[in-house]
Amino acid sequence: MEHRTDAVFKKPSIFREGMREYAESCSSPVSAELREIEEETTRLAPEWADISTSPVQATFLQTLIRTAGMNRVLEVGTFTGHGTIAMASALPDDGEIVTIDNYVADKRTQEIADRAFARSPHQHKITTVLDDALSALQSVEGDFDLIFMDADKPNYIKYFESILARDLLRPRGLLVVDNTMWGGEVLHLRDLPPAEEAKTGEEWVERMFANWAHDVVKFNRHIAEDPRVRTALLTVHDGMTLVQLAS
Ligand SMILES: C[S@@+](CC[C@H](N)C(=O)[O-])C[C@H]1O[C@@H](n2cnc3c(N)ncnc32)[C@H](O)[C@@H]1O
Repeated sequence: MEHRTDAVFKKPSIFREGMREYAESCSSPVSAELREIEEETTRLAPEWADISTSPVQATFLQTLIRTAGMNRVLEVGTFTGHGTIAMASALPDDGEIVTIDNYVADKRTQEIADRAFARSPHQHKITTVLDDALSALQSVEGDFDLIFMDADKPNYIKYFESILARDLLRPRGLLVVDNTMWGGEVLHLRDLPPAEEAKTGEEWVERMFANWAHDVVKFNRHIAEDPRVRTALLTVHDGMTLVQLAS
């Protein structure tokens, strides 16, 4: 993915105006550590800040981990480490989170994550994998209690199939897939030319939204019709789908 500094990557909200903020105001505040990552992301990589997990999502993931007493987590798509630190802090002291990113889009976001991990009291629980997710999913050792899938949408089906083929999710474990409502674009599919050929940053962003919506729709259908899993698409933030092995 090419990094375009002249465009802001911001999807529309799937809610009516003010609802995200209302949900946040009625949820427990996140830690100072998470607020610091959010602040650095907004200040140092403003074009990409919207793709970070939100505070409510962070608290939601922490709740899942604590409720089920989870110990091992895999994150596909680290970005600036907001979700990683949120989940790491919910794990017990001997817990582990393995987080994968190739950082092809923007090296600044890797620097923010690296700094966040280096200063974190949960650093000892975090293992970073700097690799393309498809290749990393062939080498990481399972199994995991929670897998948070949050990288490039065109590869979602391949990630899902790799996770199942390699038994990376333990029985009764949870796969959580982010952005499955894709800013509401899933309801209004548009056929635009490939984003790579766009002339401006704005055009590139517009085409990305439109093109990836097709991938998200294909993925949603793929898992909803797969008898190997049970799925629930929750309208949390930008859509978060919970997936469990059916057996
Ligand atoms: C939506 S962000 C992840 C947000 C993060 N989970 C959080 O909690 O803030 C997506 C990340 O996936 C990474 N990514 C995209 N395609 C990838 C690929 N093929 N392999 C590895 N990482 C990828 C991007 O570099 C980006 O940092």
